[in-house]
Amino acid sequence: MLELEYDVTLPAEQQSNSMSDVASDGAAAPSVQAVPTKAADDGYRTVGDFTSATPVMQARQVDVFYGDNHAIQKVSLDIGRNEVIALIGPSGCGKSTFIRCLNRMNDTIESARITGDITLDGENIYARHMDVVMLRARVGMVFQKPNPFPKSVYDNVAYGPRIHGLARDRAELDEIVQTSLERAGLWTEVKDRLEEPGTGLSGGQQQRLCIARTIAVGPDVILMDEPCSALDPIATARIEDLIDELKRNYAIAIVTHSMQQAARVSQRTAYFHLGKLIEVGDTDDIFTNPRHKLTEDYITGRFG
Ligand SMILES: Nc1ncnc2c1ncn2[C@@H]1O[C@H](COP(=O)(O)OP(=O)(O)OP(=O)(O)O)[C@@H](O)[C@H]1O
Ligand SMILES: [Mg+2]
Repeated sequence: MLELEYDVTLPAEQQSNSMSDVASDGAAAPSVQAVPTKAADDGYRTVGDFTSATPVMQARQVDVFYGDNHAIQKVSLDIGRNEVIALIGPSGCGKSTFIRCLNRMNDTIESARITGDITLDGENIYARHMDVVMLRARVGMVFQKPNPFPKSVYDNVAYGPRIHGLARDRAELDEIVQTSLERAGLWTEVKDRLEEPGTGLSGGQQQRLCIARTIAVGPDVILMDEPCSALDPIATARIEDLIDELKRNYAIAIVTHSMQQAARVSQRTAYFHLGKLIEVGDTDDIFTNPRHKLTEDYITGRFG
């Protein structure tokens, strides 16, 4: 059992999943609240509703260990359709580890061990028969540093559709490449440079190329791990506009260190701290009325 630096147990009267419960008893609320002296049985409970009305992915009681390091502790969270969820929290709190669970990228890390349940459209993604290549097409990932393949712009986007056999002929492949680049907001900039290397584009263009590559295989979910941290403000604004556009068709989970970005692009926000999901809720509520002290400290810049 790991000793935590912070006690993330809530006072009993705040241990509710309903925002209205907290406010309901109105005027006579005592100014000093009794804090329980012993931890709840399970040690802590996420504040807020971690479920979505229209889930596409559902994580339940997920733990991740890297050797002895307990990096994610009993995290339950839904990723909703047509919605952007922002994952925020101080460095090392487990944001990347958690989103890597959602498309089994942690499988590639030898010391990583994962327990709990994660489903995509109700199907267990850790089931023995799950095709991981197919899973990563359905749950695509965009990384912090744009990582186009050392291939042409066209071949970067065509890569996934080719290995998954999504096009019957060149005309269909051309169509997928064009549509994906259009959706990624890059088509007009590259339509005359399709045979040039993807690595020759600017950083912001490369990131949109990576998004086009992800879209080309028709994912359900797009995971983004600090997708703008290597970009200037103009390129960042373009990606943020794009995220807003993309949520019409995809579920998006974005890790960001920028509160402003989380507030601009997401509808739900999840705050992680030392491997635990401390609080989750509507982005507006999290930023204007955080319920957990740790969330409040983080968003007001007291640490992190
Ligand atoms: N490949 C790895 N091997 C071993 N331990 C790891 C690995 N990746 C992450 N960890 C550990 O897991 C914990 C969570 O790390 P993670 O990278 O998920 O945090 P994060 O919230 O994404 O941080 P940051 O904001 O700095 O990117 C940390 O203690 C980290 O040292
Ligand atoms: Mg990270």
